[in-house]
Amino acid sequence: MWSRYCQTTCAVVCKDLNLITGELHFLRKSSHCTQIATHGHGNHCNQASLYIHWPYCQKRCSYCNFNKYISRNVDNDRMTRCLVTELKNLLGISGVSSITSVFFGGGTPSLADPQTIFEVLEVVKETSSLADRAEISIEVNPTHLETKKLVDFQHAGINRVSVGVQSLKAGDLSVLGRDHTVEEAVRCVLESRKLFPGRVSVDMIFGRPNQTIDQWTEELQELLKICDSHVSLYQLTLERGTKLFKQVHQGTLMIPDGDVMAEMYRASVEILERSGLCRYEVSNFSTKDAQSLHNRSYWEGRQYLGVGPGAHGRFVPVGLGKDMREARIQTLEPDNWMFEVEKFGHATRRAVPLTKLEQLQEVISLGLRMQDGLTSSRWLEHQGGTGTLNDIFGSCPSVNNLISNNFLTLDARGMRATSEGLIVLDSILPYLLNTLTDFTDCTGR
Ligand SMILES: C[S@@+](CC[C@H](N)C(=O)[O-])C[C@H]1O[C@@H](n2cnc3c(N)ncnc32)[C@H](O)[C@@H]1O
Ligand code: SF4
Repeated sequence: MWSRYCQTTCAVVCKDLNLITGELHFLRKSSHCTQIATHGHGNHCNQASLYIHWPYCQKRCSYCNFNKYISRNVDNDRMTRCLVTELKNLLGISGVSSITSVFFGGGTPSLADPQTIFEVLEVVKETSSLADRAEISIEVNPTHLETKKLVDFQHAGINRVSVGVQSLKAGDLSVLGRDHTVEEAVRCVLESRKLFPGRVSVDMIFGRPNQTIDQWTEELQELLKICDSHVSLYQLTLERGTKLFKQVHQGTLMIPDGDVMAEMYRASVEILERSGLCRYEVSNFSTKDAQSLHNRSYWEGRQYLGVGPGAHGRFVPVGLGKDMREARIQTLEPDNWMFEVEKFGHATRRAVPLTKLEQLQEVISLGLRMQDGLTSSRWLEHQGGTGTLNDIFGSCPSVNNLISNNFLTLDARGMRATSEGLIVLDSILPYLLNTLTDFTDCTGR
């Protein structure tokens, strides 16, 4: 299954390099529900990271098209039972015996009962090995009520939080449809820092309606006064079907154009890096030891299990006698998902075997999101006899064009986007993916 992320890249496949614009739509949060990753092909690996999806939210934000549902009467016990059942089943199907990290995402997982988190983690510990110091994260919406639950989440086993601040401007929080105030967000970050020092991330959205570069950089400076060791910055993406999409298309709201977005991003990188938060992925910045290991595992193309409504996974289902990595997605709607889990043990809606070429395309698309890019050693783990990065890309004129225009570097360390290249990654990737396809067609590897 090829994600929305690739559809974006294909849309610009015919663009001449000279026409590359400052489009930044790749800075959109790559949802855990849409993320893609691979690890070899046909070779079973007993390690994986684990994503758990909590699908409910208190309120619909005006920009969001994630798989989320507003429900006043969530059956916590039934959801917990189903998460546990599906987790056990997917562990069996994947043959995974070692979980490297766990991420509770949503939706709004901080609305879940801490007991749910505890029970899921108990199953992980009982049925697989989970290192004592493994990263176990949860996304937190910073309302007063959820901040009060932080300590219970810690007791349940959480050791890292990602706080959805989004903006430090009251007016913008209201345009975004958030259900917390600026004061609540600040308080939540400060409380989180007390409980999880060095392991607090903050999500911010830039390119908001009517936002100027100066307003944004001032806001970022304010954020630096309170934030911890990790910041995720997402450019606002207008998603079809959302309230914000309609408002912008009807002309009631205006968002900054592509050039301003690009400038906002450049300024953000400079400000964050100056204050010691270095970019390690297009949208992610941290101090040296605070990178998200869970998200890194996606970008490095490792296996992961996705449990819960609409969760995605990438693993080899050895328990079903198969030997190809599959892209799997669970049933989206929570009631249908619970019904299927109760009936069949899991609610996998689609499982698509990935060809070797598709796996390698994913390794490239994800690897290049990182500052250190796709290293030669990681490519070696995945390429399965296809060829070295230099064999494939070294003599391709369009790739050499990217290199001479300072968008890309290819050397013994590997292949990586330059600082300017990261800004236009969506426009670069099609050249690389086409080159890989042509190479495999020509060599039959
Ligand atoms: C899974 S979502 C939501 C997590 C949590 N419920 C919250 O709202 O904070 C994770 C992040 O994706 C980002 N996001 C979601 N929709 C977006 C959009 N349309 N454009 C840019 N970023 C978006 C937000 O920064 C959000 O914190
Ligand atoms: S941004 Fe978060 S809280 Fe808002 S609707 Fe989306 S998932 Fe729910």
